Amino acid sequence: MAATPHGQAQNCKGRRYRRKQRKLVNSENISHERKHIELQQWLSQNGVKYHHLRPANFKTTGRGLMTVKAYKDGDVIISIPKKLLITTQVALESELKDVIVRFPKKLTARLIICAFLIIEKMKGSSSFWAPYIRCLPESFDTPAYFTEEELSLLPDSLQVKSKEQRVKIQQEFRKLKQFFRFAKEFNICKGEELSLSFFKWAWFVVNTRSLYMEESYSAGRYLDPSEKDVYVLAPFLDLLNHSPEVDVTGAYNPSNDCYEISTVTPFHRYDQVFIYYGPHDNKTLLLDYGFVVPSNPHSVVQISLDDVVKMSAGHMESTFPEDYAIEERQKVITENHLWDFSCSLNGLSWHLAICLDILCLDPNQFGREEWKSIVAGHETPDNCKDRSTRVAKNVLKQYLEETSKKCQEISAVGHQTDHILMVLQLFHEEEEILTNCLSKL
Ligand SMILES: C[S@@+](CC[C@H](N)C(=O)[O-])C[C@H]1O[C@@H](n2cnc3c(N)ncnc32)[C@H](O)[C@@H]1O
Repeated sequence: MAATPHGQAQNCKGRRYRRKQRKLVNSENISHERKHIELQQWLSQNGVKYHHLRPANFKTTGRGLMTVKAYKDGDVIISIPKKLLITTQVALESELKDVIVRFPKKLTARLIICAFLIIEKMKGSSSFWAPYIRCLPESFDTPAYFTEEELSLLPDSLQVKSKEQRVKIQQEFRKLKQFFRFAKEFNICKGEELSLSFFKWAWFVVNTRSLYMEESYSAGRYLDPSEKDVYVLAPFLDLLNHSPEVDVTGAYNPSNDCYEISTVTPFHRYDQVFIYYGPHDNKTLLLDYGFVVPSNPHSVVQISLDDVVKMSAGHMESTFPEDYAIEERQKVITENHLWDFSCSLNGLSWHLAICLDILCLDPNQFGREEWKSIVAGHETPDNCKDRSTRVAKNVLKQYLEETSKKCQEISAVGHQTDHILMVLQLFHEEEEILTNCLSKL
């Protein structure tokens, strides 16, 4: 600073000030809210050392954590001691243990944590975990909370997955309802039966907020082994939102018995701090977490092999009226384990491009088994590449037409709820991927 002319220093300060203001305008500090003050007090009473994160509502992502200090590569952002982590071990060291041990069926790790959360929420203020539970959301934006109309607007593949998820939730609910009936004999919970909405709340708290941690403590003999014992709820740390752009590491540090998040991506002061939930596309984010991110690099449009075969057949039959061995070509595709038929902002997947080339080789080239060199990654003959590019364009144009029609239909729905807007974002993203891919062909 000493070597900087005065005017420049002022300018620099002015820029910093404007940047801070811009960031603050896009967020609202909520750390003064009573539940957040109580959470902070509880954290510090239980060994969370000073950190620089403040809960805030952000215009783009909703509630998350803002840093009031810059972080550089390798800095630990937050460290949560083991005694504040909710794991199966915590549940098995609580009054639930007797019920878990005596219940005739084994529960999965996820259901044990759900049962623990439900019991602790029922206790209200007398629960040790009350300051944490008070800061949890009451409801979620996953398709399991969509109305029938909202569900009907989802892409078909997501409707199927959402139905499967609902069935799974129903099955697990029935199991936990039996468990709670059984628990009444142990005087752990009295009163009404476990309701589906209460169970769904706990299920989605675990689904949307838990970290993945291989436990050193083994609760194995008490658990249903069909699922791994890897779910951990980390109070406060679970206020961090996801970004596909950031790189952070999260791990249990045995030297201080804390779960720690460290940065790889630096963060500026007043930035929202993000973590990385995994390489999820937007459909997965919506199904499991209830949100979508703009320009998600992991999003793809799935192309059906049937559509590619049909479109190439139309083209090949008019060019080569003799038999062009469609069945043999499909066999080659299957036997060479080509399965990823998709396109992304990077273009056609390698499997889709190879599959198109195999379907468009002229019959003589196919007879000479020239597909082997294509599968091995060598150049595709020019005449075949021309045909396969034309077929690819036709397939993508057809998909784009259908997607644009869907966007219009959804935009025309009278009441645009937040859920409908997220569905629309999914289709707009598909439009963008298809348009981008077409422009690259
Ligand atoms: C681990 S919690 C993060 C904290 C959460 N926002 C809260 O207020 O409690 C995960 C949930 O946060 C929301 N979320 C996470 N990342 C997001 C993002 N990039 N944009 C919008 N919502 C996001 C989703 O509702 C998700 O289910």
